[in-house]
Amino acid sequence: MANYMDIIAGCKDKPGGIIEAYHAIQKEYNYIPEEALKEAAKAFKLSEAQAFGVATFYSYLSVKKRGKYIIRMCESAPCHVAGADEVLKAMEAYLGIKVGETTPDNKFTLELSECVGQCQATPVVTINSEPVFNVKPEMVPGILAGYK
Ligand code: FES
Repeated sequence: MANYMDIIAGCKDKPGGIIEAYHAIQKEYNYIPEEALKEAAKAFKLSEAQAFGVATFYSYLSVKKRGKYIIRMCESAPCHVAGADEVLKAMEAYLGIKVGETTPDNKFTLELSECVGQCQATPVVTINSEPVFNVKPEMVPGILAGYK
């Protein structure tokens, strides 16, 4: 696992380096930890508020702690009609968290998504961007047990 200090050091002198660094950090950590934001502020000569502002400007970057596996339940109409709400409830019950939260062991974060273009096999869940098709509530424990 690449350390955020090394990532920032590697991007420090590049144009747009802070965005590149944030991308790389998020790839490693699944979010941008507060210490990394502080380090980026120093390296890119910004205030901490500015470094935070850059990270929160882009919706694909997250400054909120997220787990190793990001589970996203598609909530667009075709998945909704096919029972996405029931699947979501089963996920919340199995993981013991609500949408937007991360399990205490930092393994899973539960989020919602828009249509992921797989409406032929609704409802669709993605786990770290890998789609799982035709998910039924009773399948949830089996699916998630496969993620270590
Ligand atoms: S609506 Fe869920 S994949 Fe299209």
